[in-house]
Amino acid sequence: MAEQYDFDVLVIGAGPGGYVAAIRAAQLGLSVACAEGRETLGGTCLNVGCIPSKAMLHASEYFDAAANGAMAKMGVKVTPELDLDAMHGQRKDAVKQLTGGIEFLFKKNKIEWLKGYAAFTGKDSVKVGDREVRAKNIVIATGSSVTPLPGVEIDQKVVVDSTGALELAKVPEHMVVIGGGVIGLELGSVWRRLGAKVTCVEFLDQILPGFDGEVRKEANKIFKKQGIEFKLSTKVTGVAVKGGKATLTLEPAKGGEASTIEADAVLVSIGRKPNTDGLNLEATGLKTNQRGQIEIDHDFRTSAPGIWAIGDVVPGPMLAHKAEDEGIAVAENIAGQTGIVNHDVIPSVVYTWPEIAGVGLTEEAAKEKGEVKVGKFPMLANSRAKTNHEPDGFVKVIADAKSDRVLGVWAIASVAGTMIAQAAQAMEFGATSEDIAYTCHAHPTHSEAIKEAAMAVTGKPIHV
Ligand code: FAD
Ligand code: NAI
Repeated sequence: MAEQYDFDVLVIGAGPGGYVAAIRAAQLGLSVACAEGRETLGGTCLNVGCIPSKAMLHASEYFDAAANGAMAKMGVKVTPELDLDAMHGQRKDAVKQLTGGIEFLFKKNKIEWLKGYAAFTGKDSVKVGDREVRAKNIVIATGSSVTPLPGVEIDQKVVVDSTGALELAKVPEHMVVIGGGVIGLELGSVWRRLGAKVTCVEFLDQILPGFDGEVRKEANKIFKKQGIEFKLSTKVTGVAVKGGKATLTLEPAKGGEASTIEADAVLVSIGRKPNTDGLNLEATGLKTNQRGQIEIDHDFRTSAPGIWAIGDVVPGPMLAHKAEDEGIAVAENIAGQTGIVNHDVIPSVVYTWPEIAGVGLTEEAAKEKGEVKVGKFPMLANSRAKTNHEPDGFVKVIADAKSDRVLGVWAIASVAGTMIAQAAQAMEFGATSEDIAYTCHAHPTHSEAIKEAAMAVTGKPIHV
């Protein structure tokens, strides 16, 4: 007798991985349910991640441009007044609209939202609240949450994680950011722009691990110029909170004499960890690896038949667009199609000012694989950036010395996040630096810097 299932596909988690997988599976004609324990759909990204952080970054950019003289330079003189409640209001509106949009898409695609946290009861069944459901395919898309710093308690008032840092009720006088990664630099930038003194304590000898070495150094220089103070090669060994103030104990990363600094806000941003607690994976026989991730094969299958996994809970960069692409691919694989994600070409963007973006290999990683040619072009020599008073940064194209195939592209520029899409597309199509150099780019655009950096690979840019 055929097995009786409630659904063809059950997705656990409605973040960018899970909700996209659910929609694509429904579009392919499968019956779909999605379990989500939050009150709204959209996961970390829409509720407390990408979207609210960008709302605060965008708004604080306006404030900063008015306050620091950037607007006055262009003949627009204003004295800004900060209405932090209104700024938070527009952040909440953006989140409400976008999470509501996913709820609309679920209804439109006839996806049943099982409200609550799901736990496996068997290899093809989960319990959500009082309801137990069976599904032919189960996709684990439970995402990630903040990595705690041992001995440091997050009270979301003085010591906050990224969620608390999005919601501070007043601008702190001094914010200490623990961790010079993406969250520390984005949210540190928000509060610096709004008037806080910001100190960033980073364990490694440079910020932004995983990014190209030259980009990391240049970014550090730019943030320093903006007023962020960096304590590199330093670790936080304790945070004591008293009367609304924090005292942090710092030590050199390699050990040595301790020192203290005071702060009225501390942001703990030392990374994120996969969410598997509470899933009762034991019922499926699945185990997590040393980093707490669920291992998958190329098609997003776990080692348990019928169970798939995607997004932050599996190995790879913890990025919303990676989770989304995996969501589409896993649904296509479940439907018997061929869903593929090219994990070698996943762009990464830090939404600071200027933005920092990259795709493919860093120069260091490329050199480990073989001989390379590198072309660089400064934003100072790009007519649009110069006209807009945005001189900081550069574009760098790394190509294989023999084949000229582009291996990586890195950029620091006001709109680097938008520019990097063309580099990703070129790499997806196997472009050489010459292909980019001979592609006509509209003038005057920041993107011309990518063309000129590609021209520089063989030594022939025009404007430097
Ligand atoms: P998530 O978005 O984490 O969603 C998982 C969902 O599963 C959650 O809603 C959770 O409630 C639910 N869940 C967990 N367990 C269960 C269970 N047992 N039952 C039911 N539901 C469950 N990435 C970018 O690409 N660009 C950015 O600009 C960016 N900005 C960020 C800013 C911040 C402050 C943070 C914290 C992250 C940011 N990220 C950004 C990372 C991005 O948010 C994640 O990579 C992305 O959300 C991962 O998607 P996901 O679907 O795997 O998981
Ligand atoms: P991260 O991994 O980017 O950076 C953490 C930093 O903390 C590292 O530089 C690390 O060396 C440092 N660190 C670790 N332990 C430390 C300690 N004890 N003391 C001092 N420094 C310490 O992690 P982050 O910033 O928390 O972000 C988490 C994830 O969220 C990232 O992996 C990123 O992919 C994602 N994200 C993406 C964004 C984007 O795409 N724009 C924005 C925000 C988050």
